[in-house]
Amino acid sequence: MSPAQKRVAILISGGGSNMLKLVESMGADHPARPVLVLANDPAASGLARAAALGVATASVDHRPFGRDRAAFEAALLEPLLAAEPDILCLAGFMRVLTPGFVQRFAGRMLNIHPSLLPKYPGLHTHQRALDAGDAEAGCTVHEVTAELDAGPLLGQARVPVLPGDTAETLGARVLAMEHRLYPAVLRRFAAGDRTPVLLG
Ligand code: GRF
Repeated sequence: MSPAQKRVAILISGGGSNMLKLVESMGADHPARPVLVLANDPAASGLARAAALGVATASVDHRPFGRDRAAFEAALLEPLLAAEPDILCLAGFMRVLTPGFVQRFAGRMLNIHPSLLPKYPGLHTHQRALDAGDAEAGCTVHEVTAELDAGPLLGQARVPVLPGDTAETLGARVLAMEHRLYPAVLRRFAAGDRTPVLLG
């Protein structure tokens, strides 16, 4: 009797290209399956893309809550807990979560960040790598902890910075690597293995 597949909820804010790769990677032989795609924007185009793949979706617009993060998260928890997830994957999710929310999912919430952490936490990572004259860039999957973009490393993938690169060209090269890294990390993590996946 194979162990039941872990239930995975994926949180998005926009197009959800990483979410799609995660959903497409979770086949019958995979230790996990997608049970919800949840967005903080009802207009996120990733919602329709997830629904087209047969995955349940929900959205909670963060804007009516203003600066009250706790109230937004309380609303977010309603569809999220109803899906009874074992693992949360943040995939292009652009809201900062409170320590209280993070603590509730400690040890089972993952995020992908478009830099070689600990370099360049936060935003505009590709431009910062270019401005620093870095020879390489990449992406990182990590466990989410209360400190932004700083949890235990679960995977990292490197790409070269090429002459003439712009933030857009470098970002596209990194995004293609994200689409390989995140599914590889999720498969290993869902099987109970936290050995980091290193690519590139
Ligand atoms: C991308 O910049 C990616 O590097 C980061 O979030 C952004 C959107 O990703 N993880 P997605 O296409 O919504 O997955």
